[in-house]
Amino acid sequence: MAYETILLERKGAVAVVRLNRPDKLNAMNAKLKEEVAQALGELEKDDGVHVAVITGVGDKAFVAGADINEFAGKTPIDQWRAYGHTSLYNVVDRFPKPLIAMINGYCLGGGCELAMACDIRIASDKAQLGQPEINIGIIPGGGGSQRLPRLVGLGKALELILTGDRIPASEALRIGLVDAVVSHAELEARTLELAEKIAAKSPIAVRFAKAAVKASANLPLEQGLRYEQSLFSAVFSTEDKEEGVKAFQEKRPPQWKGR
Ligand code: COA
Repeated sequence: MAYETILLERKGAVAVVRLNRPDKLNAMNAKLKEEVAQALGELEKDDGVHVAVITGVGDKAFVAGADINEFAGKTPIDQWRAYGHTSLYNVVDRFPKPLIAMINGYCLGGGCELAMACDIRIASDKAQLGQPEINIGIIPGGGGSQRLPRLVGLGKALELILTGDRIPASEALRIGLVDAVVSHAELEARTLELAEKIAAKSPIAVRFAKAAVKASANLPLEQGLRYEQSLFSAVFSTEDKEEGVKAFQEKRPPQWKGR
């Protein structure tokens, strides 16, 4: 599919979605959000893609937020419609393969919410993160009020959301908002290294593992443990499980089939 506001690349079993409005610091307008959601739909169906990475084009920004210009005159019903089943945050949240946010600069508002909806966040040492919505008289609307406290705790989440302050990548790492900080020059190489490492595992086991871990955010421990047990039992039906065990016994690398 041809896209106008994003670039979609495949590097072996890793796909990279690049948000491409660098002159606007990759602020997400409706078209861009729609295209990222479409691209993820395409990648979900593509069995050759095992892991996806999301990043911004240019040296300055991952995403500087929703496109603020689109808020002028927007009605409550317009916004309500935008929250449809196929809207970006819902698609990201339900994407079954690992999704890595490669945070190459400003990661603000909807950009921070997009990164938080991803599974793993790797940031450049030049990145700055924050939820500055309060500064334009609104609040986070892409999951920020719910995901940020789950990652960093209530106090820090409230501090960030109520002040609108930006924090450097080092502070984001300290509070658990990102999982690693690497030098700006190495960001792409280090992120792709991680993506390729995951992409080389059994894709079916990776999907089961992601589903189990993500469920822990929503389920009480007892139900989470039962869910894990059903997935663990189900993974014993796969050819990859037989192959993995056999390869271990034969002291050779496994050849995954993804089924
Ligand atoms: N929506 C729409 N346009 C945006 C944008 C956003 N969220 N963030 C940046 N831009 C645009 C700017 O308007 C500017 O466009 P112009 O050149 O046509 O005037 C361009 O991107 C470059 O931004 P600029 O502000 O000149 O860069 P800077 O380096 O001086 O400042 C930021 C960078 C990120 C501090 C600043 O752009 C900013 O505060 N952006 C808004 C962040 C925000 O509040 N996000 C949450 C929205 S709910």
